[in-house]
Amino acid sequence: MKKWFVLACMCLTMSTVALAGNVKVSSPDGALTVTIGVDGGQAWYQVTRGREVIIDRSELGFVLKDGDLKGNFKMGKAVRNSLDELWGQPWGEDAVVLNHYNEVKVSLHEKSGSKRRLDVTFRAFDDGVAFRYEYPRQPGLQDFVIMDEVTQFALPSDAQAWSIPALTAYYEGIYTREPVSRKGNMAGPVTLEVSDSLYMAIMDANLTDYSTMNFSHEGTTLKADLVPWQNGDRVRVGDTRVSPWRAIIIGRTAADILLSRMPLNLNEPCKILDTSWVKPTKYVGIWWALQKQRWTWSQGERHGATTANTKRYIDFASRHGLGGVLVEGWNYGWDTDWTRHGDGFSFTRAYPDYDLEGLCRYAAERGVRIIAHNETGGAAQNYENQMEDAFALYESLGINTVKTGYVNSHFYNGELQHSQWGVQHFRKVIETAARHHLMIVNHEGAMPSGIQRTWPNLIATESMRGQEYNAFDRRGGNPPYHECILPFTRGLGGPMDFTPGIFEYRNDSVPGTRPQTTLAHQLAEYVVIYSPGHMAADQIENYEHQPAFKFIEDVPTDWQRTLVPHAAIGQYVTYARQQRGTDNWYIGSVTDATARDLTLSLDFLDKDKRYMAIIYEDGPEADYRTNPYPMTIRRLDVDHTTVLNLHLAPGGGTAIQLLAQ
Ligand code: NOJ
Ligand code: CA
Repeated sequence: MKKWFVLACMCLTMSTVALAGNVKVSSPDGALTVTIGVDGGQAWYQVTRGREVIIDRSELGFVLKDGDLKGNFKMGKAVRNSLDELWGQPWGEDAVVLNHYNEVKVSLHEKSGSKRRLDVTFRAFDDGVAFRYEYPRQPGLQDFVIMDEVTQFALPSDAQAWSIPALTAYYEGIYTREPVSRKGNMAGPVTLEVSDSLYMAIMDANLTDYSTMNFSHEGTTLKADLVPWQNGDRVRVGDTRVSPWRAIIIGRTAADILLSRMPLNLNEPCKILDTSWVKPTKYVGIWWALQKQRWTWSQGERHGATTANTKRYIDFASRHGLGGVLVEGWNYGWDTDWTRHGDGFSFTRAYPDYDLEGLCRYAAERGVRIIAHNETGGAAQNYENQMEDAFALYESLGINTVKTGYVNSHFYNGELQHSQWGVQHFRKVIETAARHHLMIVNHEGAMPSGIQRTWPNLIATESMRGQEYNAFDRRGGNPPYHECILPFTRGLGGPMDFTPGIFEYRNDSVPGTRPQTTLAHQLAEYVVIYSPGHMAADQIENYEHQPAFKFIEDVPTDWQRTLVPHAAIGQYVTYARQQRGTDNWYIGSVTDATARDLTLSLDFLDKDKRYMAIIYEDGPEADYRTNPYPMTIRRLDVDHTTVLNLHLAPGGGTAIQLLAQ
């Protein structure tokens, strides 16, 4: 049994004080300070870095259906706490994570009326600050409804914000950079470039039984804008008496934002005792040919999920050491307009030309697992009704992963994917799956918020505009800068099921639509975009006899340590990641439409070792617009003193394998 222990822990409750004045809490390194106060009954907080105001006085509180919880407070007691621990992840970007913070929990007391109490806990880390509300049960505050959360984030200036609009369907939008004042309502995470030495990202962490936080703003003051239920309620507070954490990651560089593990630290420790069945892997699938309309999900002549096709995919996965085969369109429900008739989906009955049991056996004999696809069309209730039986069946057949989908503007009951109902539904799926030893890849979900720490069987989420748009987008596909933004925004919440690795750019269904990147960029995505369960997304015939496919075979999906040598949001980013449990390193670097020459020092390598570098780079003629394919593969003997010059073509990339000798 594999267990993950807290590796070192020092937990100290420092003091409890009754207070009338302001309360302060500083980060362990002393650089960041949160001040909490009450003026004229209104509670506020402020964040400073040294003398610099990072978040100016910002209001706290709620509008409730039944009496507001704001503007009528006096400060109560403050309880302090600290933690300095290292904890291990069953999989992740780093094997071990430092969780080091100082905390203060302040009680706010209503001065009149029902004299209720609202608690707010603030944590100051070296890489940011976070706070969450607690609603102690008390007369006048039993179950209640939040109509608005007044939480503000008053920015020090009109910072450049990277974000997508609040109501982007399933977050499948292109992030843009504009001054906050010119933005409309935004979905979180919102990533901010305030100055050359101040970067921030504001987001939900530990989104549990609450609705997702979007942002409205007045000028440069952001305000929480919670996704409503249909009747306008924002959150129905019952048994869960805490809000998610409002996390503000703070760094001096854009790379600091990528390396912050604060969102994970703000989530609860792992609830799965034995995680030995949660296994990072790579997979191929009956998928890209569906996106390109060569095959169909529904039955008929071009049905993709046939026994014969699936066997070919299993054989390929087995030959190339890939652990999974995703099969979409294997089950009844696809033959009508399934977004309108999602109630017709069966998650247990296979189409007649798909031998569910036989294929699971065939896969097992070859060391491969089937990934079952469960598209709901938004009929989440239909899914909940079948989930227990379906998951029990999958478990009995040796299926270890389920990819879920919710293609619809809302669920059949009218609620939105990122509403509280949606968040509750997705959690139900993850917890039920865990009981059946199933990993989940969730498409069209809520915005992830680091809950993979608690439920590591949630191996990836979409909640972004993935590679699939390079098949069907009528405007040509994702822009070349897209993957230079995703890690800094969507990626902060958790692993991304982006589905990299397209090798063949011809498109008969939407001519001209294709990856707007070079082939080397497609390889680099395996390192730049983080997921413990990456897909090799192309049709398998496009990988045959392609020397570049060796990189996809070799690249791991689980890491010991992650570094970010270059980072400029929307322009370029380089990751260097050490393979879990080995001395090998992998490097991925991607650029936008501009060619780049980047200098990369390998000073992070073990000083006592030599390495064989295998470099997959854009060939001399490569350009995403005119000729995306040219790639040079070269080998080099390197060590920690080596400095590499990376040349990235327009829309290009570099992928490097460093094998310890
Ligand atoms: C959208 C998902 O993102 C995609 O991966 C899937 O193939 C289709 N829905 C069909 O479920
Ligand atoms: Ca999608």
